[in-house]
Amino acid sequence: MIRIEVDLAARSYPIFIGSGLLRDSALLGRAIKSRQVMLVTNELVDPLYAHFVEEALQDRQLRKVSLADGESRKTIESYYQILTALLEAKFERGCTVVALGGGVVGDVAGFAAASYQRGVSFVQLPTTLLAQVDSSVGGKTAVNHPLGKNMIGAFHQPSAVIADLETLNTLPPREFTAGLAEIIKYGLIRDRDFFDWMETHLDQLLARDTATLSLAVRRSCENKAAVVGADEQESGERALLNFGHTFGHAIEHAQGYGNWLHGEAVGAGMCMAARLSTRMGNIAPTSRDRIINLVARAGLSTEAPESSSRAQLLEAMSIDKKNKDGHIRLILLDAIGHASIRDDYDEEALLEVLGPSATFQAA
Ligand code: NAD
Ligand code: GLY
Repeated sequence: MIRIEVDLAARSYPIFIGSGLLRDSALLGRAIKSRQVMLVTNELVDPLYAHFVEEALQDRQLRKVSLADGESRKTIESYYQILTALLEAKFERGCTVVALGGGVVGDVAGFAAASYQRGVSFVQLPTTLLAQVDSSVGGKTAVNHPLGKNMIGAFHQPSAVIADLETLNTLPPREFTAGLAEIIKYGLIRDRDFFDWMETHLDQLLARDTATLSLAVRRSCENKAAVVGADEQESGERALLNFGHTFGHAIEHAQGYGNWLHGEAVGAGMCMAARLSTRMGNIAPTSRDRIINLVARAGLSTEAPESSSRAQLLEAMSIDKKNKDGHIRLILLDAIGHASIRDDYDEEALLEVLGPSATFQAA
């Protein structure tokens, strides 16, 4: 079992990574300390994995909420469903909310934990590749609003993350591929060696080879833990984790939540950001082509969907948490392995990477 620490003084916590960790009742029992436990999962993950948690916590006062599945259900209504279950169970401030599932369950359950009685303990049991390498770590919790992705939420760190690699065996291929986008992201923004490693090990990763997967999840979590440890609430470096996300969130929003998976949108968004970085003269065309090639080999789209116009994407990009003084700010590359937040991009070049025709109305 691998253990990585997220170093946040009083809010520090461990990430455990390994095969079969959900079967380890003792580990679950130690990580989830409360007598009152609200297990939050969804209708798809519940029959697959909830029994492990239920068996491990037989001696606790355990209740369960099984949400409807999908990004389109990452809503204030799902959040409210959890709060209602907590109140109906008369759970006290000493309770723990446990998220079992992908990033959607983790984000909604985390927001409920952040706000129930002004904040209760939270444990993440991520079951998708994307959640294991990214969303379960770092304490960002949120629901979507029809006008903007992740626009309602809070920072609320979990007290432990337990990533059982065995759960990835049941993940549909499209969901697995979506998770690869966030892994590629770490290489691009801060870990050139990891990007090189991805280029040589992508086939083993796609075959879900356990040792390769374990290394990819570990390295991703090490990168994420380092960034979060340095900038918990995104006053600087943490914004780099949003590489490809301004474009990606716009695609998700413009296409309707759930039609493009988050990771798929981030994959295309990273290629768009790479093209813009080359247009600005920051990275060589050969670097851009390596990025686009790796994203394509992973099985992800490298372009924005043709059915979303530039105008739609620009409108969606105008509602983004990084924006300042009405101006869209973007994470762009200075090299493979190095990124920065920029607002000095060429507006014509931005239009070109978005696709055909529109006038620029960023503000
Ligand atoms: P998801 O939660 O929708 O899960 C993907 C699909 O896989 C769902 O249908 C789910 O039910 C199913 N599933 C989950 N585990 C499974 C398993 N082991 N076997 C079979 N099916 C399984 O999507 P996701 O990609 O995990 O997460 C995407 C979300 O995460 C987005 O809402 C995104 O905004 C958010 N996110 C948050 C952060 C953060 O820092 N909080 C970071 C990145 C992404
Ligand atoms: N996925 C972006 C962040 O955690 O900051």
